[in-house]
Amino acid sequence: MSGDMAQQNDSKRLFLGIDLGTSHTAVMTSRGKQILLKSVVGYPKDVIGLKLLGRPYVVGDQAFDMRSYLELRYPLQDGVLSEISDRDLEVARHLLSHIVSLVEAAPDDVMYAVIGVPARASGGNKTLLLRMAQEVVNTALVVSEPFMVAYSLGKLVNSIVVDIGAGTTDICALKGTVPGPEDQVTLVKAGNYIDERLHNALIERHPELQMNINVACEVKERFSFVGKAPAAPAIADLRAGGKPVRCDVTEPVRIACESLLPDIVESIEALLRTFQPEYQPEVLKNIIIAGGGSRIGGIADYIKERLRPYGDAVVTCVDDPTFAGCRGALRLAEELPPQYWGQLGTVVGG
Ligand SMILES: Nc1ncnc2c1ncn2[C@@H]1O[C@H](COP(=O)(O)OP(=O)(O)OP(=O)(O)O)[C@@H](O)[C@H]1O
Ligand SMILES: [Mg+2]
Repeated sequence: MSGDMAQQNDSKRLFLGIDLGTSHTAVMTSRGKQILLKSVVGYPKDVIGLKLLGRPYVVGDQAFDMRSYLELRYPLQDGVLSEISDRDLEVARHLLSHIVSLVEAAPDDVMYAVIGVPARASGGNKTLLLRMAQEVVNTALVVSEPFMVAYSLGKLVNSIVVDIGAGTTDICALKGTVPGPEDQVTLVKAGNYIDERLHNALIERHPELQMNINVACEVKERFSFVGKAPAAPAIADLRAGGKPVRCDVTEPVRIACESLLPDIVESIEALLRTFQPEYQPEVLKNIIIAGGGSRIGGIADYIKERLRPYGDAVVTCVDDPTFAGCRGALRLAEELPPQYWGQLGTVVGG
């Protein structure tokens, strides 16, 4: 169906905001549906798995829950589509088509999707993603994730957004235009990196502990903080030799979480310097932290303190890190007529 026909019948237009992340994908639709699922596809390891599963593959949290007899594939690695083989592309296609199957579109709906991807996703990579999106929606636009967060907050001028995800931390300077490559920095240290650091630190301190990366991640998500230690020490219930043990994890958690921050602060400083001097004080007052990593306790104060030599900074964490990006994508899809999407990035369909 063409764009013109869609405009004649608004009820047939379905707008989607999609935040395609390494660990989670979040979706909001113009009919008020919200979806959150793990960005993972599981395939049976053998014929027994196939029999247990009863279908060729399964997507999202369900796949993760059945991981003992499935081979899990994460289509986005370090925030970009893995494109080593046709197989990898097929995984991404399975994830995307599953997402679209969940939005409850009517057969005659015309679907317009704005898809947020990490700032680093290269031109070629975006084109691949768009080609796949075109198989499942009518019109699609790919834009950078931190730009979507800024859009959802209405902070498109003189601000800096720091999106701390699982695979990457994306930092973006907003100057009232669509951010170009020179306005964005992607660091490959993010939540997964903290998990690794914490895992290694805990094993080193307590060699008897039964530790793996999932346990380290749980400990992080429960106790994460930077800077001043909380009043009560962080005591985790862990296991050693099959038996429960209690362990003070305060210091290892702090050190692992703080390991991200020097690079983040340095990148904020570098982007700050790219603004005209008269705007810099305002930019300092508009520093926004998003993504799952914005849940780290004390992170806004810590960054504010580190920026002290530049002036009095105001650093805020978004209220809803899970949906802030896709809310911005949906808002953009709804507010800006699709015929203008070509000015914002690469578009397919129309
Ligand atoms: N309370 C918490 N403290 C610290 N980290 C947390 C907390 N809650 C979630 N996280 C971490 O946030 C990360 C996930 O964030 P998010 O959902 O924004 O990532 P993503 O969008 O899937 O990844 P990316 O943006 O890299 O593609 C994970 O590493 C997760 O462990
Ligand atoms: Mg993300």
